[in-house]
Amino acid sequence: MTKLSPTRFTISTEFEVYKSASDLEQQDLELLQAAQKAVDSAYAPYSHFYVGAAALLENGKIVLGNNQENAAYPSGLCAERVAIFHAGAIYPDIAIKAIAVTCKSKSNIINVPLSPCGGCRQTISEYENRYGQKIRIIMGGETGEVYVSESIENLLPLMFNAKYLPAKD
Ligand code: THU
Repeated sequence: MTKLSPTRFTISTEFEVYKSASDLEQQDLELLQAAQKAVDSAYAPYSHFYVGAAALLENGKIVLGNNQENAAYPSGLCAERVAIFHAGAIYPDIAIKAIAVTCKSKSNIINVPLSPCGGCRQTISEYENRYGQKIRIIMGGETGEVYVSESIENLLPLMFNAKYLPAKD
């Protein structure tokens, strides 16, 4: 049997790029500053890579998270998930509007935006689904450019989500 050649499709994603944090809109800047503060309480004695995250909720509250490491490495958790689960635990009925994330390293100055790991992207996508609204993502480094995405869709194309599963209860 002759095999058909594959067709292709392209997914394009889009980010806003700010030359520096000071160019951000006030609300984004304040959220990134909250994430910067959260970096200082990160528990990262193994990687010495300190990450802070701040989630802005629909009720105006800002909920913080930072990475929490463990001698048994996989038992640690990233800053973004600590912030999101923190928000989910204390405000279960309130949507998350935005999350900012940034980092600091002991060994070098991070001059590129922190890009959330795959597990954190999946978690952000779950919370977009959970509340049925997009989560704005503000990504900063210690210095340099800041990337902003209006939704996790730009960071996690072809995402797996609840639509693949049987109807929810
Ligand atoms: N980390 C985060 O907190 N967020 C990310 O998106 C990437 C990585 C943490 C996990 C670990 O504590 C350290 O950074 C080094 O990987």
